[in-house]
Amino acid sequence: MRRICVVGTGYVGLTTGTCFAELGNHVTCLDIDSAKIESLRRGEMPIYEPGLAELVLDNQARGRLNFLAERDTAAYNAALAEAEFVFIAVSTPTREGSDRADLRAVRSCAERIAPHLSDGVAIINKSTVPIGAGDWVAAIVDRYKKPESRFAVVSNPEFLREGSALHDFMQPDRVVLGSTNREAAERVAQLYLTLRCRVMVTDLRTAEMIKYASNAFLATSISFINEIAQICERLGADVKEVAAGMGYDKRIAGAFLEAGLGFGGSCFPKDVKALAHMADFSGCHPQLLRAVLDINYDQRSRAVAKLRQALGGLAGKHIGLLGLAFKPNTDDMREAPSIDISRQLLAEGATVAAYDPQAAENARLSIQGIQYRSDPYDVAQDADALVLVTEWREFRALDLRRLRHAMRSAVFFDGRNLYEPEDVRAAGFTYLGIGRGYVPEPFAGDIDQELYLVHEANGAGASAAAAP
Ligand code: UGA
Repeated sequence: MRRICVVGTGYVGLTTGTCFAELGNHVTCLDIDSAKIESLRRGEMPIYEPGLAELVLDNQARGRLNFLAERDTAAYNAALAEAEFVFIAVSTPTREGSDRADLRAVRSCAERIAPHLSDGVAIINKSTVPIGAGDWVAAIVDRYKKPESRFAVVSNPEFLREGSALHDFMQPDRVVLGSTNREAAERVAQLYLTLRCRVMVTDLRTAEMIKYASNAFLATSISFINEIAQICERLGADVKEVAAGMGYDKRIAGAFLEAGLGFGGSCFPKDVKALAHMADFSGCHPQLLRAVLDINYDQRSRAVAKLRQALGGLAGKHIGLLGLAFKPNTDDMREAPSIDISRQLLAEGATVAAYDPQAAENARLSIQGIQYRSDPYDVAQDADALVLVTEWREFRALDLRRLRHAMRSAVFFDGRNLYEPEDVRAAGFTYLGIGRGYVPEPFAGDIDQELYLVHEANGAGASAAAAP
């Protein structure tokens, strides 16, 4: 049984600590927030993550998982002094007024733990930190540690998705470990041994970059398909089938090609911004990353524009939102598209009512001026348009006719492409979607353009271009 300390009981720290306890280790989770520690001890979760509460309670009961406030000084010292592995899992949000990661929590954590560390400890960084931050943490610990104690810093980025974090921890595609100390990295690798997954050992900075590059790549896929969706709308193609057709190519695979209202959450927006900032700072020109962000944020205003057009203006219109969380199976509202969409609708004089199975409480903190309702049919009452914002399972089989009958006018905007356009229309709605269900714009008598397209289709464009 290995002794592990996890500093920070946010979403990453809590999942990591609980899963390591489940794997048979003795885990102490530390946090500076005593109230949070108290509620965790009572078995109350600070976040909604499927399956987590059960696992926390079970491992607490077995004595493998403990929660400790850093205020309990003696216990805190003992927990750190006995730990062979200390995970740093504190948050690194975007710094206010800039795109860079805010590292204050990491700095203060490194300063606090350093004097209490056991000799030979591995300090493992789970927080997403800018490239080079592992060396910086090592320098801080070196300054504050007991003179005789030795330590190594290992970067071990997390690839957990909210909503499926336990699955992602227990069945990872890979574990990445970066360190200048190979022996320490291999010791950390032993912690993951029972998961029988691919473990990649590399240097510190490469490991840190793998995290940013992975998130930026996935975000790029989403913005890519959202741009394709926009083109599909104009030309009358169906983006859902386009993505499926692309996905059959093994080189493309097809994941993260679901067009929608764009990405949100605490990771993609923050990490793409931070990577672009690092690139700028080091003299690079991150034009692709900037485009990924632009497309993503435009996706929200484009949704409002579609509603405006379909309803002939937004002033005085009642809009219902189905879902508020940035994605299903979470109560997380950080960077949720629903925030920008609601604000823009309210700013144009619409009223907004919404229902979310888990996120309403958090939403009240980020969105003011909307009404919170108790189910989708309640949201539909007297609405002019419904927008499906988050693809919760319970929104996949709505009684469309019942919704339609409750409404004042009948626009259904499927912001996650869950429904077939014809089914929505059959229920009496005007259908709006993302990159599907649109009738191509006629050529309006522009014979040249029409001929040009016909020529292209017959390959004449290509041979003409090839002619000398
Ligand atoms: C993401 C990564 O997937 C994790 O690997 C990573 O560990 C995590 O960030 C992190 O850095 O901590 P997460 O933000 O929980 O995880 O959620 P995702 O499931 O990746 O979805 C992110 C956003 O992209 C959501 O807003 C989702 O609606 C959107 N999305 C995703 C799409 O719009 N289309 C897709 O095809 C996939």
